[in-house]
Amino acid sequence: MLSAVSRASAVRAFSSLAARAEAQHPIKNVTIFGAGFMGAGIAQVSAEAGYNVKLVDVSSAAAEKGVAGIKSNVARDARKKFAELAKTSAEQAAESERKHVEAIVGRIQATDKLESAVAEADLVIEAIVENIKVKQDLFRKLDAHAPKHAILASNTSSLRVTDIASATNRRDRVGGLHFFSPVPVMKLVEIVRTDDTSNDTHAALLDFGKSVKKVTVSCKDTPGFVVNRLLVPLMLEAIRMLERGDASKEDIDAAMKFGANHPMGPLELGDFVGLDVCHSIIEGWHQSYPDVQLFNPSPLLTKLVSEKKFGRKTGEGFYVYPPAAPKPAKK
Ligand code: 3HC
Repeated sequence: MLSAVSRASAVRAFSSLAARAEAQHPIKNVTIFGAGFMGAGIAQVSAEAGYNVKLVDVSSAAAEKGVAGIKSNVARDARKKFAELAKTSAEQAAESERKHVEAIVGRIQATDKLESAVAEADLVIEAIVENIKVKQDLFRKLDAHAPKHAILASNTSSLRVTDIASATNRRDRVGGLHFFSPVPVMKLVEIVRTDDTSNDTHAALLDFGKSVKKVTVSCKDTPGFVVNRLLVPLMLEAIRMLERGDASKEDIDAAMKFGANHPMGPLELGDFVGLDVCHSIIEGWHQSYPDVQLFNPSPLLTKLVSEKKFGRKTGEGFYVYPPAAPKPAKK
């Protein structure tokens, strides 16, 4: 028999468990802001994992463009998936491919309407421009319009999640979900926890990362988290080597590909990620931490960016990219 005291504490424990279960909304609806390369990639892996996805951009044309890119990626995957079947029946393979693409892309809705896009969201992921004011402005609106239980996450590569969260009244339900480019291929997501991120939010973000089939690592809200803190200074050191004339760009890249087994050399990787992105990361860090020598800006990087040579996306960075050729043509 339970005593009156233990019965009371059992009731309290039960009701607090029930309250917690009620408060924890399983993530079903995911809204992603920014339909660029990163945002569209996050939308793709979320839809592939079965979530209902809303992909939002400043215009419906931009959001639709993101969905079109996802469709062609998923169609390419479907061709690989049903390649065996195609050997015996091209018709059945084509039908299976069509259904596969429809099932995934059918879960994604493109829109430019913030309020309706977040009205039923359980998780909102922001992947817009790396500008603190713009991000804070968006988070302020998200806080006003998303359900109280919704978690707000940022895919920022270099800004403090704490500063982004400060625009909201739900700092306990804000964290970082930092994906890597190209999102459907790269296996990692960093789960960034600020001092205010609650245990429940952190656990929900970890579960989400795993559900989209990524390896998750948890990290504090420090500059560049884990990967960019190591990768960006590496790129910068490679650029400084080039500036000093220590080796040619081809040799620097070949050295890291064949001497360290990196899939791309650091300069090729800079072109792939976007030199504008690398430049804005390093400028931001340099302003915030002027004494850290590794974060010193590079005159060559600044010059390329001022000439709008952002890498692959503009057709030229360290290398020149002819429009039809996906691989860099060495200068
Ligand atoms: N979307 C979807 N799938 C893609 C893709 C894309 N954009 N690009 C390539 N793929 C797939 C291809 O379909 C192919 O799939 P398969 O193996 O099933 O056939 C596979 O990736 C390999 O592609 P390719 O054969 O065309 O080319 P590579 O073998 O040269 O691989 C790469 C391309 C995966 C990009 C590889 O070069 C690589 O891993 N590079 C390093 C990328 C990296 O370091 N990313 C992190 C950057 S840092 C970052 O993102 C943080 C941010 O905050 C700045």
